[in-house]
Amino acid sequence: MTVLPILEIGHPTLRERARELTAEELAAPETQRLIDEMIETMRDAAGAGLATNQIGRPLRIAVAEVDHNRRYPYKPPIPLTVFVNPVIEPLDDELVAINEGCLSVPDLRGEVRRHVSVRVSYLDRDGGEHDEVKRGLTAGTFQHEVDHLDGVLFCDRADPRTLATWEQFERFHRDAFVERITEFAERVGS
Ligand code: NI
Repeated sequence: MTVLPILEIGHPTLRERARELTAEELAAPETQRLIDEMIETMRDAAGAGLATNQIGRPLRIAVAEVDHNRRYPYKPPIPLTVFVNPVIEPLDDELVAINEGCLSVPDLRGEVRRHVSVRVSYLDRDGGEHDEVKRGLTAGTFQHEVDHLDGVLFCDRADPRTLATWEQFERFHRDAFVERITEFAERVGS
């Protein structure tokens, strides 16, 4: 098992736009190994997702998985998803404020307004084409990861007055956020 170092805010690679991969590049053994290492690194860090910029290889690949996540226990499950050359398109104008964190932005959380419903088009690790609708917190996770591939961090989009350390989030904001987002998740069915 290989756990890769995760770049932290201030590293210039986090600010690059990752480039698309060709079919040949995706099939290459080194790319497939990189995908395995990204999955192992995400799981080791208890992240909900990880994008290539965060491990210093700006190709358009991200991974996501949520299964009783200890950083985000209120997030609905996401089966392991490898998304290559993803394109996100909002389905309507509805937004929801989601409290986010990021493995590349240590000890900071904040509220980001995300689209509630998005269409995500991507290739899986075998080059298969997918075109899926994501909603609610899961849509937020996909928007966060595709932002990474465009060199954007959640704190760029966060309302600065909502920024908090993880300890102060737990102490003062967690209960209200979880109550609001749980009601929201029940309403949108995500
Ligand atoms: Ni992140």
